[in-house]
Amino acid sequence: MTLTARPRAFLCRRFTPAIEAALHERFELQVNDDDSILPSAEIARRAAGCDVLLVTATETVDAATFAQLAPTLRTVATLSVGYDHIDMAAARRAGVRVLHTPDVLSDACAEIALMLLLNACRRGYEADRMVRTGAWNGWAPTQLLGMGLVGRRLGIFGMGRIGRAIAVRARAFGLDIHYHNRQRLDPALEQGATYHGTLEGLLATSDILMIAAPGAPALRGIFDADRLARLPQGAVLVNISRGDLIDDDALIAALKSGHVRGAGLDVFANEPRVHVGYRTLDNVFLSPHIGSATHETRDAMGWLLIDGIEALARGETPGNLLS
Ligand code: DGY
Repeated sequence: MTLTARPRAFLCRRFTPAIEAALHERFELQVNDDDSILPSAEIARRAAGCDVLLVTATETVDAATFAQLAPTLRTVATLSVGYDHIDMAAARRAGVRVLHTPDVLSDACAEIALMLLLNACRRGYEADRMVRTGAWNGWAPTQLLGMGLVGRRLGIFGMGRIGRAIAVRARAFGLDIHYHNRQRLDPALEQGATYHGTLEGLLATSDILMIAAPGAPALRGIFDADRLARLPQGAVLVNISRGDLIDDDALIAALKSGHVRGAGLDVFANEPRVHVGYRTLDNVFLSPHIGSATHETRDAMGWLLIDGIEALARGETPGNLLS
């Protein structure tokens, strides 16, 4: 009997126990045991000779990494829907297939979007701090007044799978849904939402702006001082996409002036080094990039990657293949 060698894989971060066990069964697996964020050069060194590289959004897989791993690397699988950390042109040049995790995280990300929205509108950080620090002297008619949602306009920038999952939930809160995409959606997907052909049009009608578009180099800094100024006075901003879409200095200035009443942010430029300006603001609710962080979702993301790798091995084209 001939024993077929198992493919070699390098796992850059610690996945859930169920997914790591499944990976160990299928691969000659090396694991970055301490779960540290590895620089690209270190990934290239430690994954040398691997067929499969398993990464997350914290790893940068650049052209140099592809070049160094080229002799054996066949597949990069990222535990994320976003893939702005992967040089896709270099992947194509190297003939490496890239898998990601769409769909299975849409509900979890939509839940976090609503958590941020509610906390930004209803002053969740200040409320929690008041109770926790013992500063609360009792109920008062004008204490911590926030912004109600019913009849407000929610502008969703990026009405893809996650944006639409947010819209479903937001409608239940009485919000009127507006959106901007490069292309208008089919009415069956729009579900009555109002399309804006320009971002500027969306901004002008957003009492609450929800940033849900996928991260991309072309979108870096798109929410600058000029665009933030187009929001109605006292608007709320939520970001679950990528931090680098926002010009942090501009948003912090708008939060200080009150032009932006409040913000809910789950993602940041240069994570985990969050702009210090946010830390001292009461009107911003912060969470550490936990959009897809539920037990069920992280397992589902892992299985989607494993299923995709196995489909590729059978010569099939899995739905989560990027290139
Ligand atoms: C994603 O899936 O892109 C999330 O931001 C986690 O990285």
